[in-house]
Amino acid sequence: MTHSDTQTALVTGASSGIGAQLARQFATDGYDVVLTARRRARLETLAEDLESTHGVSASVYTADLADPDAPAALADELADAEIEIDALVNNAGFSSHGRFDQTSLSTDLDMIQVNLVALTELTKRFAKPMVERGHGEILNTASMAAMAPTPKLAVYAATKSYVLSFTEAIADELEAAGVTVSALCPGPVDTELVSLDGMDGSGAADQRLNDPESVARAGYRGLKNGKRIIVPSMRMKALAQATRVLPRNRVVSIAGSFYD
Ligand SMILES: NC(=O)c1ccc[n+]([C@@H]2O[C@H](COP(=O)([O-])OP(=O)(O)OC[C@H]3O[C@@H](n4cnc5c(N)ncnc54)[C@H](OP(=O)(O)O)[C@@H]3O)[C@@H](O)[C@H]2O)c1
Repeated sequence: MTHSDTQTALVTGASSGIGAQLARQFATDGYDVVLTARRRARLETLAEDLESTHGVSASVYTADLADPDAPAALADELADAEIEIDALVNNAGFSSHGRFDQTSLSTDLDMIQVNLVALTELTKRFAKPMVERGHGEILNTASMAAMAPTPKLAVYAATKSYVLSFTEAIADELEAAGVTVSALCPGPVDTELVSLDGMDGSGAADQRLNDPESVARAGYRGLKNGKRIIVPSMRMKALAQATRVLPRNRVVSIAGSFYD
């Protein structure tokens, strides 16, 4: 390889949950990390910890990815700082729980912007130089919700279906150029997301939750092993299989039963 030994990972949604743990995985393996999200204090605390624990460089760039200008601004800031991104982790995302006619339009549109549009734009902006350098890694956090239309999470599940489809397609396209692309598809994980989107009053709160650290570890390992779809738990692997063989209406009603 012609690139320098120290590689740099950009992690979106690094201020909490799975993203903070993914940043930790990369730092543990010696990557410098660029952490982004909206909550600067959280990012700075994590950056200090990763620098002191792992001896890597950790920098913080705040961005609100619901703002359509944010991905370009972030890419420009990193270019100005002469930071090349070897690994892009598109992890920022949120969900909104409820019946479609009763949830907020602006929240739905922000969700599409963060979960799907910003992810696509960041991938476009950072994949090109990876291809030119002949190496790179992209890890997109999708969800088990990508595998089934999900009543009460209709827009969220649709954004994650996009992420999964998009990821598998470009994984195939970019493999020969030396760029590995993977989708991480966790089931329910014990993070702030479950309470932030109003899901904590639903059946989702009663499910067995995975811990964000083990999900991130599986994601990092899966990326390194070149897996295109990473499903972190055996139970979720069985559910993923079921979505392929059961009648579609049955899949939709089972998916919905988790979130009633
Ligand atoms: N928890 C689950 O059950 C579960 C299951 C499957 C997939 N996922 C996916 O995993 C990813 C991480 O979620 P999590 O569970 O770790 O929840 P989380 O702790 O709430 O983390 C979400 C992250 O996304 C960032 N984010 C949200 N809105 C943003 C915005 N407008 N601009 C920039 N950053 C934004 C948050 O940072 P700030 O608030 O600081 O901006 C935070 O760092 C998401 O894509 C989620 O869809 C979660």
